[in-house]
Amino acid sequence: MVTPEKLLIERLAPAFAQVAGMPADPSMRRGRHADFQCDGALALGRRLGRDAREIAAEVLRYAVLDDVCSAVEVSGPGFVNLTLAPTGLGRLLAGIAADERLGVPRTARPETIVVDYSGPNTAKEMHVGHLRSTIIGDAAVRVLEWQGHTVLRRNHLGDWGTPFGMLIEHLLDVGETEAAHELSVGDLTGFYQAARRAFDADEAFRIRSRERVVALQAGDPTTLRLWRVLVTESKKYFMAVYARLGVRLTADDFFGESRYNDELPPLVEELAELGLLRESAGAQCVFPAGFVNRDGDPLPLIVRKGDGGFGYAATDLATLRHRLRDLAADRLLYVVGTPQSEHLAMVFATARDAGWYGAAAEGADGADPTAGDAGPPRAPTRVEHVDFGYVLGSDGKILRTRAGASVKLVDLLDEAVARAAATIAEKDPDLDADARAALARAVGIGAVKYADLSGDRRKDYRFDYDRMLSLDGNTAPYLQYAHARIRSIFARAAIRAPRVAAGPLVIREPAERALALRLLAFPDVIEEVGESLQFHRLAHHLFELATAFTGFYENCPVLRSEGEIRHSRLVLCDLTARTLARGLDLLGIETPERM
Ligand code: ARG
Repeated sequence: MVTPEKLLIERLAPAFAQVAGMPADPSMRRGRHADFQCDGALALGRRLGRDAREIAAEVLRYAVLDDVCSAVEVSGPGFVNLTLAPTGLGRLLAGIAADERLGVPRTARPETIVVDYSGPNTAKEMHVGHLRSTIIGDAAVRVLEWQGHTVLRRNHLGDWGTPFGMLIEHLLDVGETEAAHELSVGDLTGFYQAARRAFDADEAFRIRSRERVVALQAGDPTTLRLWRVLVTESKKYFMAVYARLGVRLTADDFFGESRYNDELPPLVEELAELGLLRESAGAQCVFPAGFVNRDGDPLPLIVRKGDGGFGYAATDLATLRHRLRDLAADRLLYVVGTPQSEHLAMVFATARDAGWYGAAAEGADGADPTAGDAGPPRAPTRVEHVDFGYVLGSDGKILRTRAGASVKLVDLLDEAVARAAATIAEKDPDLDADARAALARAVGIGAVKYADLSGDRRKDYRFDYDRMLSLDGNTAPYLQYAHARIRSIFARAAIRAPRVAAGPLVIREPAERALALRLLAFPDVIEEVGESLQFHRLAHHLFELATAFTGFYENCPVLRSEGEIRHSRLVLCDLTARTLARGLDLLGIETPERM
């Protein structure tokens, strides 16, 4: 499917090539004085040492634009301003209206993409950091799957390590049945803190806990069985949270730290053979280049502790190696908070040094361009930290309860849904209980997700119920309402939305043009977001689209118009609703038919 940008670039490229005497690719962006602006002549002018305005004029003599543009002019220092002709616009729009995928192509280069997200810890409450990871990761999964990639969801559950000694001993103390109950209903904080208290207060408990860790690592059957109880019950609870959130994570997506246990000894062996391991304070460490502490000393990544145990870093190295080698992933995403940036950067650097990916590995993959018939060369593997900032309370500090504990994620969700329900009850008292509950859920959860995704993820954001649930501004309820309002146009008139253009679409009024251009930009936004994973750009686009629709709806009568104008406007309405629904769905947000 062609977007206007691509169409114009297609038309301009040969003209630029002719003037430049070699292939040149003009870039196109949204213009202020026209639909689009191209600054290709400026770049070329610099390269050729010629006046950019002259080049622009020359390009326009060669370019065939008559059938797509109604106005073309050189402006300023050599910009080319382009305004699409109504017919061209109508044709492009008819194309995406007839397309199930709204003009968004399936990718020509499908990749295997591993998304590591959520990653809560067994027998520990999920906190808002896990909320962000789960929401952002889910959006990544949705966008990339929709683009046609093979996405492998990996929930890197914290299910191994020294805390399990005390957790298992505590489980024995309270009794298995009681412990299982506490965990599955979500009293993880209580459980964990009680274990911690016993550990801190009671020497005998401490000794038992340490022995238990040894038994766990040695694979003692009884200990493993008790460990499994903790993991199973915690998973049940996490699954309940995911269901509440409406994310795509399933029970099959748990790939906990423990799964990589067997790979840890060979990992250490491989790193040792490569000469990457060094002893430091009794521990086996790697020192990837470029990482130093405050004093400028090289920073260690501890692979094996002095006591022979393995930690978080060793597991992450084994996991990464597995994903690169066994899963043959093309792209690996780690949706993890910014505080773990350095840890992940060190893990990634070590993987490069070990030759698991990067220049050395790609070279060995037969990337010789002269090799010929090996098919298109594989793009280099990408390993990315999809990082995100903190969630702040209304005081601007990291979100905590009044007692100072970290806030329980489900409490936040419940509160958002309860507030949404109260508003709905007030506005629409006749709605039956089930419908009200469903709507409250869509709005409340949608609001939380949208608040998270609509800002630059790398920045901290303030958790503010009033703002996220507001019907005005860049919020989920605003967009959901915009969508429902369009659907109600069709419902009220008892007509079905026209999908296929009966004749040419008529796009004449400025407000129609503005809306049409936003609709046509959707494919490029998706493509960009699939690369950058900056979901706020999609959110922003949807907000602009809804705003453009408001402008259109205020200025252009739909049902009261006639003939092909009425038809065109109905197509614009339907296309806007579909784009809003699809865009919000890619962010994991529902779009109720009525609000
Ligand atoms: N369980 C970790 C935490 O709560 C997050 C895991 C992130 N993923 C990873 N591969 N390290 O901080």
